[in-house]
Amino acid sequence: MKALVLAGGAGTRLRPITHTSAKQLVPVANKPVLFYGLEAIAATGITELGIVVGDTHAEIEAAVGDGSAFGLQVTYLRQDRPLGLAHAVLIARDYLGDDDFVMYLGDNFIVGGIEDVVAGFARERPAARIMLTEVGDPRQFGVAELDPDGRVIGLEEKPREPKSDLALVGVYLFTPAVHDAVAELKPSWRGELEITDAIQWLIDKGYQVESTVITGYWKDTGNVADMLEVNRLVLESLEPGVHGRVDAASELIGRVVVEPGAVVERSRIIGPAIVGPGARVTDAYIGPFTSIAAGCVVERSEIEYSILLPRASIEGVRRIEASLIGHDVEVTPAPDTPRAHRLILGDHSKVQISP
Ligand code: TTP
Repeated sequence: MKALVLAGGAGTRLRPITHTSAKQLVPVANKPVLFYGLEAIAATGITELGIVVGDTHAEIEAAVGDGSAFGLQVTYLRQDRPLGLAHAVLIARDYLGDDDFVMYLGDNFIVGGIEDVVAGFARERPAARIMLTEVGDPRQFGVAELDPDGRVIGLEEKPREPKSDLALVGVYLFTPAVHDAVAELKPSWRGELEITDAIQWLIDKGYQVESTVITGYWKDTGNVADMLEVNRLVLESLEPGVHGRVDAASELIGRVVVEPGAVVERSRIIGPAIVGPGARVTDAYIGPFTSIAAGCVVERSEIEYSILLPRASIEGVRRIEASLIGHDVEVTPAPDTPRAHRLILGDHSKVQISP
């Protein structure tokens, strides 16, 4: 069995971060979200992994390399344009050959691993198995309709009147039967080859499509709110430890990790929180659920429930909350007069300023 991880895509919901970098590499507790998926795949015993990459291929390749750090042999599969999840299967056709495979969306986050579901699939080999989870508002998701035996009888993308509250999780298991489905697909109204259409094709042709309802936590980290939420969750299970330098005038409360080379001076950090390698926190307050990446500076400022990407600096500003701050961003106070905000914001940036 092989694995196929989708790490291309447009990432429009995470602009402007995705103008310059891959959304799958946004760090969750200072580790790229993609790496949690790669670890889950490696834990199943699968070793052969194809990673579908798009415009951000160089960055993904630099981060994952040949996969040996995860015990995986990685082959990169270039998708020229993000034409849909089923299009990613189409371009991976030669790589996948006649093997069964697990497809994993590179920005999805699942607690509890996929070992059992992969092992069960390998034993029973239905044409496809999808993973489902109960959600509060199914209208925002791909939704499955099941018969009383748990067989999937229909799928709908973002239905106005959902037939169940079971949403598709970003992990799918397929036999090579899916390639026949994908080969026949036409682009949907949004111009993409939809994996839900491929699965519906299998159902319509009488193939066995099964489902596993997971009870563990799942999130698609495609938007900022969900990214911050996953960061919160992972930080909550962090093993606290000070591996950098914390001066006597600082106070660390709760689960706090200070990574090697980090310096904390005259500051108060309330965990769960992580301060990355080489970062500096001076005269600052770091509140719960905050991840400060490598090389960041937080000085005379307050921040909580946020993610800072590498080398961002926040100096001399009042409290920042629920924010995702990109690489090398500088946040500083404006001069006292005139009292005005001064902004240099990239395309598609989002700023909320308290008056
Ligand atoms: P999505 O989050 O559904 O799509 P997207 O990346 O285009 O994001 P947005 O909706 O914000 O514009 O994609 C799920 C995962 O699959 C994600 O890791 C990107 C990846 N992907 C591909 O590799 N190729 C594709 O053609 C598409 C659509 C997504």
